[in-house]
Amino acid sequence: MSSSRISRFYRLPPAERRRRLIDLAGLSAEAFAALDLGGLTLDVADGMIENVVGVYGLPFAVAVNFTVDGSDALVPMVIEEPSVVAAASNAARMVRPRGFSTVVSAPVMIGQIQVTDIADLDAAASVLRARSEELLGSARRLVQRLAERGGGPIALDVRPLTRSGPDGGVLVVHLHVDCRDAMGANLVNTLCEALATRVAELAGGRPGLRILSNLTDGRTVTVRCSVDDAALASDAAAGRDVRAAIAAASRFAELDPYRATTHNKGIMNGVDAVLLATGQDWRAVEAGAHAFAAGSGAYRPLAVWRERSGGLDGELVMPMAVGTVGGALHVHPGARLALALAGAHTADRLAAIAGAAGLATNLAALRALATEGIQRGHMALHARGLARAAGATGELIDRVADELAATGDVKADRAREVLARLRAPHMVKDSP
Ligand code: MEV
Repeated sequence: MSSSRISRFYRLPPAERRRRLIDLAGLSAEAFAALDLGGLTLDVADGMIENVVGVYGLPFAVAVNFTVDGSDALVPMVIEEPSVVAAASNAARMVRPRGFSTVVSAPVMIGQIQVTDIADLDAAASVLRARSEELLGSARRLVQRLAERGGGPIALDVRPLTRSGPDGGVLVVHLHVDCRDAMGANLVNTLCEALATRVAELAGGRPGLRILSNLTDGRTVTVRCSVDDAALASDAAAGRDVRAAIAAASRFAELDPYRATTHNKGIMNGVDAVLLATGQDWRAVEAGAHAFAAGSGAYRPLAVWRERSGGLDGELVMPMAVGTVGGALHVHPGARLALALAGAHTADRLAAIAGAAGLATNLAALRALATEGIQRGHMALHARGLARAAGATGELIDRVADELAATGDVKADRAREVLARLRAPHMVKDSP
């Protein structure tokens, strides 16, 4: 795509936004029809899960201004919370001169095979380690097509857990599988189930659970960005204060798990919205993110911000198990449209974009908290909602909302009053 920088995109009506995106992303004229009816027919929904009685809608939006690893990206987001999409677009604009840069690890997922009731844990662990190549060979034979695409089982390790207890001696075998562009849950679960009997036999125990781990610490994304003082505020001097306040907010999160949790929630606002739009298992990424955040024994922020001369550097590291093949993508046209909009043809690119969205919403939240507080932005959006609810349409929405926000009196009855006043001259003019 040419450029994701679309100024005043938020001011356009939805149909015009669609037209701009179709041009920018080179989509077909009917591409957005996939989103009507929530991107999903009742029939398709009925084939996805059990006991379906309907389809549940959420707003689908596109954050703009993103540059990720040297190329522009439109960032599809599905989320119910006001301000997040605007926050992501604003932060991406601040970061835009250098853009976000990412390092995406190899897409390696972990499958766990638990073995219980082992009489001699040390002997079991050494037998399994000695036979690991043989076990890996069996696993590889089961997924030859994945191997042809450069993926497949790459390592096996053995983790003794306890010598005795209600389940006797317990160990777990970790099977590391490079899943390429798949998220890989089905693949990894199938392999674990296939190997479990042989693993338990070699260990002299009973097969227990066989399932992937959502702590995908072998499949991570690292996102970095650098913002200049002048981008953080209206001028460099004010920007210096904002920079210092954001770095202090980062240190607060590094010291306190109560704050770190909210800090990470602000990251997941961006990440989850992209994952939801693109049909990913966002619960898996959520679970992995928080376990990873607590990996040191204390719950820590996933992203930190440091001052440098003239600006601020941010870095986010988190697990990111996403896929561009399989899962809901087979059936969900809305998710396929989101991937096309984002230009995410590989899992690596999707991980990079989702991570960049997370660092962007974190930056925007910290900047708002460090300056005017979070409520002002929320109020501006709330004012637009009230203006619409009062019956405003077209440009009147912005005029009513702007007046409510400017006076700070953001209430439904006030919206009705302002709308009546703004409409009054037209009514006089139009009357016979
Ligand atoms: C609200 O959805 C997210 C924030 O609370 C994040 C933060 O405090 O950093 C604003």
